[in-house]
Amino acid sequence: MVKSENGYMDKSHAQDRIAALSEEIRQHNHSYYVLSNPSISDFEFDMLLEELTRLEKEFPELIEPESPTQHVGGGITREFRQVQHKYPMLSLGNTYSEGDIRDFEDRIHKTIGDAVEYVCELKFDGVAIGLTYRDGRLVQAVTRGDGIRGDDVTTNVRTIRSIPLKLHGSGFPGEFEIRGEIFLPHASFEKMNEQKLEDGDEPFANPRNAASGTLKMQDSAEVSKRNLDGFFYYLPGNDLPFKTHYECLVAARSWGFKISDYMVRCKTSEEIFDYLETWDKARHGLPFDIDGIVIKVNDLKQQEMLGYTAKSPRWAISYKFKAEQASTELLSVAFQVGRTGAVTPVANLRPVQLAGTVVKRATLHNADVMATLDARIGDMVFVEKGGEIIPKITAVDLDCRSDQAAPLAFISNCPECGTALVRAEGESAWYCPNEDGCPPQIKGKLEHFISRKAMNIDSLGEGKIEILFDNGLVHNYADLYDLTYDRLIGLEKTYESTVNKKEKKISFREKTVDNILNGITASKKVTFDRVLYALGIRFVGETVAKKLASHFGSIDKLAAADYNMLVEVEEIGDKIAQSILAWFSVTRNVGLVERLEAAGLSFTLDEPLVARISNKLAGLTFVVSGVFTHFSRDDLKKAIEAHGGKNIGSISAKTSYLLAGENMGPEKRKKAEKLGVLIISESGFLELIR
Ligand code: IVH
Repeated sequence: MVKSENGYMDKSHAQDRIAALSEEIRQHNHSYYVLSNPSISDFEFDMLLEELTRLEKEFPELIEPESPTQHVGGGITREFRQVQHKYPMLSLGNTYSEGDIRDFEDRIHKTIGDAVEYVCELKFDGVAIGLTYRDGRLVQAVTRGDGIRGDDVTTNVRTIRSIPLKLHGSGFPGEFEIRGEIFLPHASFEKMNEQKLEDGDEPFANPRNAASGTLKMQDSAEVSKRNLDGFFYYLPGNDLPFKTHYECLVAARSWGFKISDYMVRCKTSEEIFDYLETWDKARHGLPFDIDGIVIKVNDLKQQEMLGYTAKSPRWAISYKFKAEQASTELLSVAFQVGRTGAVTPVANLRPVQLAGTVVKRATLHNADVMATLDARIGDMVFVEKGGEIIPKITAVDLDCRSDQAAPLAFISNCPECGTALVRAEGESAWYCPNEDGCPPQIKGKLEHFISRKAMNIDSLGEGKIEILFDNGLVHNYADLYDLTYDRLIGLEKTYESTVNKKEKKISFREKTVDNILNGITASKKVTFDRVLYALGIRFVGETVAKKLASHFGSIDKLAAADYNMLVEVEEIGDKIAQSILAWFSVTRNVGLVERLEAAGLSFTLDEPLVARISNKLAGLTFVVSGVFTHFSRDDLKKAIEAHGGKNIGSISAKTSYLLAGENMGPEKRKKAEKLGVLIISESGFLELIR
């Protein structure tokens, strides 16, 4: 017997109490997070959750993955596993005018006649997600990815309180998928950005980026604090126990999913246009972002008749709201140097309200766009939010121009370091060529080095890099590995609060410093291909770095390769080869590599690089032999590794499968049969990994 606050409780009582508490908390979570209608006070809720947490601590063997306590997270995802979607995650055709919507309706009427009912919904601006439930329990959450495969973000999605880990009610299929959008409500977005500033990190540009960044965090306990939310809008598959899309969503609502109250059924174009106009105005009052509406054919049989194009369903379409415009005065033009050295002209504007935020600056893109627009100081200009992120200037109101307004000239020297700018043939941007001496370029290289797909030092961010650079502690990425506790502790930066515009000061305290140093140490385990990508050699992106690492196996061999050896590598052409040769010809770069090597970073490849898709073939060994219809032998071998299996050269009693193609020698077949090794065909193999 174990003592609990309720007295001594044995395991079977504890089990009952845990089940009852879980059910009760699940109901309260649903009322609070899905229905926005709390059923008890926060205090009472905390008491229930505390009791459950305590009991689970006493009887850890009774913790269910669907327990409400699991919303607080704790699981770490080092690398997000790629998962194939059961049904491809398609996108929607876009329309921008009422005429486009009428054309959509005409196409539908041609196929299925006039008796069509539509469902109009909001188009949530977040990150698409597919959730799989088995026996009423959440088993997998996958992002859209490329539509065929996405990232498995289950651990992080489990922390979202409005997403049921265990379904309510009944009538749901044994296994099904539901799709929706994960988003960050405005209030949480602002709170989170404020925290980012306080931590010396760069704030997110918009709630969509913030939601996407949060879903990809490694520490689910952090995700849990960010208040992600999700609306659900689609059940894929054609064996659903419902006749219409609307019924599907109403049923999903009864199972505990957050389904928008703003979906409506429409019969006429006029009703659709009414919906559209209403939400074009009302969207600014919503506590989250939408970027349009979605119109769907309601009847599932009719949907099936209409079918799909390669990219999108023929039974649905989205209407994107037009970007909002505002007009304001151009006060001055500044020139910004980016990470690559490209110089962007940026307009400083008289602050103006636009789509819910105050806009003070807008991009003029480059010298060509600036010349074409011919905006002059004092002009009234029109600003628009392109994709709702960085506002741009779209036109000048020439009627308001003063006679004195003079044309603006592009600068000829870098505003950061004074170096004369250069412009390559056929390129629209002017560049500062001082790669290693120009502050924004140095900081840009450092930011690339620490980024997720490179060294993944997430305890450092843009803001912290800036502090390190401004204090003269790092000038290049090798300097990161010389940082010590004593150099970091107490470093300071002041910034302006976005909430009250007051000046705030942040300083590196013990926890921050420990995190930074731990992150740097952990990065020494990053594989060679990613280190190579992190070096920031022009045109050597993630994929090229993988190809080079696989081909050469070490930095020494890569550095020693001549032009011919480089272009021999698959997908490496003249431009990339020249860039690699140029990079290794700079003594400074070679010196940096030497310092990184001395710090313990990986500059050789220990294992062959194959992106892991699944573990379906884990523990299985294959011999691949013969000629195949759909794939080359190499492709099949890669697929075996990608699914966790192993390729071996010859058959033994331990071989799991002989993957047999045409023209395979009869000896191999005989040997396999003798040793009891299973023989499968190409299609049998595809079945295995499906
Ligand atoms: S239905 C097969 N409904 O918009 C069609 N999508 O551009 C499945 N989206 O990838 C999508 N709100 O991420 C649908 N009410 C809604 C939506 C919605 C937002 C997103 C979704 C999709 C993208 C298409």
